[in-house]
Amino acid sequence: EEIEVTSPENQEAAAGSAKAPALIAREVQRRRTFGIISHPDAGKTTLTEKLLLFSGAIQMAGTVKARKSARHATSDWMEIEKQRGISVASSVMQFDFRDHIINLLDTPGHQDFSEDTYRVLTAVDSALMVIDAAKGVEAQTIKLLDVCRMRSTPIVTFMNKMDRETRDPLELLDELESVLKIQCAPVTWPIGMGKNFRGVYHLLRDEVLLFRAGVESANQSFEVISGIDNPRLQEMFPLEMDQLRMEVELVHGASHPFNLEEFLAGVQTPVFFGSAINNFGVREILSALVDWAPPPRERDATVRSVKPTEQPFSGFVFKIQANMDPAHRDRIAFLRVCSGRFERGMKVRHLRLGREVKVSSVVTFMASSREQVEEAYAGDIIGLPNHGNMQIGDSFSEGEMLQFTGIPYFAPDFFRSVRIRNPLKIKQLHKGLQQLGEEGAVQVFKPVQGGELVLGAVGVLQFEVVASRLMNEYGVDAVFEGTSISSARWVSSDDKKALVDFENSLGHNVAYDAAGNMAYLATSGVNLRLTQERWPQLTFHATREHA
Ligand code: G4P
Repeated sequence: EEIEVTSPENQEAAAGSAKAPALIAREVQRRRTFGIISHPDAGKTTLTEKLLLFSGAIQMAGTVKARKSARHATSDWMEIEKQRGISVASSVMQFDFRDHIINLLDTPGHQDFSEDTYRVLTAVDSALMVIDAAKGVEAQTIKLLDVCRMRSTPIVTFMNKMDRETRDPLELLDELESVLKIQCAPVTWPIGMGKNFRGVYHLLRDEVLLFRAGVESANQSFEVISGIDNPRLQEMFPLEMDQLRMEVELVHGASHPFNLEEFLAGVQTPVFFGSAINNFGVREILSALVDWAPPPRERDATVRSVKPTEQPFSGFVFKIQANMDPAHRDRIAFLRVCSGRFERGMKVRHLRLGREVKVSSVVTFMASSREQVEEAYAGDIIGLPNHGNMQIGDSFSEGEMLQFTGIPYFAPDFFRSVRIRNPLKIKQLHKGLQQLGEEGAVQVFKPVQGGELVLGAVGVLQFEVVASRLMNEYGVDAVFEGTSISSARWVSSDDKKALVDFENSLGHNVAYDAAGNMAYLATSGVNLRLTQERWPQLTFHATREHA
């Protein structure tokens, strides 16, 4: 239908709306949203800091690090809670690099490892995998990579700590390929290691980047010497260069050449070597993210898939952080923008509740502070203040019924049963757990037989958080105790009768979660395996999608 353009205002509006798609497309194109996956101590905090330093987002090294020690100085949840403001501010860091807007999402590790850690990865478009080159692939890296694989997220790999004695680089690549089942395409190759670390050779550019230790400034440059056969290199490092040439020959023969398509499909990872603490190799990673990692892509929203460049705004909540300000029971819902342009003050529709929300006090996250958002595009994260009516997985739009998919719940690794000191508070307990379960703070299972609720989590701190929130928000003094349960699986089947039989015969270990899904609570790995074997008509799932 053609719009009749009469008044000057209309003319302007028409011109504006004609420009809008181009503006949105440009903004989407220059966005990169990623998270860091690593095992504790591999160097995530150090690298985050250097990335921010590079972009000029922070002036001084030590800032992120200080936050981390503040967070980990204690295992006491109440103490951690006092740091909440800080940890929210560092949950999402937005900065500029080479005219691109980079959103770096924190993936909580160590003690605050929780389901949030996994869910954050559903909101990114790529991931940076940091590996301690002395240790190789470690447990948490494997888990996090599995989550990335669910969405074929492209992964850039950084082999850190080359300034120390590390394992043999070829062996490291081998391990990555065999354990993580991902093809490796080395982009830089280390020259020596530890005390004899000389730098890296860029396989695609045929250049050597010379290592210098302990440089803390952002715009430092490392000397570049071009050509692996450059006589200067031979003069400087005769031994190392002979070794390098030999290795490069091996690498060319044995490893995969970098292939952008395979990287984007999540099949192959470009590998960089460096030293985060020395800021060495960091620029190369940032460049890889800008040059190779994808801008926001289409997302499945059940009824159809949504392109990031569509004009109407849409997005979904992937994390809720509570008790920012305990006095107000303030919670922030972290929303990933999937399409369109978000503007402060605009009205959006909360689809599950069918309610219009006027979003006037939205926060964005800059490296330095929480700031008010004026506008946001696909790939950006905005924080919506809310009082408990938003849940993980909730979608927002300008009206269309979209339900973004792919926000998973993970079978918990830790279990507790719940008891309360004051039996009169049983109703509040159930209400509190129901709400905390819906919000995704913890998983709540109600066994078919036996009255005690079972809580499940992927990180133990989740229990402390829940205990503290039950007390503060619902006035319930709950005691958590160990249980005999060691793992849980969601159960489904087309065979309705089999499900009923299953429930009737194993009632003590069959439970329903907060969303009403049937789950099997196993007492051991053997028990789980035997049960699976005995009930071939049923499927046992380690993850479930948000309903
Ligand atoms: P994380 O967030 O992944 O847990 O790791 P973090 O950055 O805190 O780094 C863990 C340890 O590894 C820190 O030492 C850090 O200084 C060190 N580290 C990080 N990158 C490098 C590197 O390139 N080379 C070397 N040699 N060490 C590196 P720490 O002793 O635990 O802490 P701190 O006393 O240095 O603060």
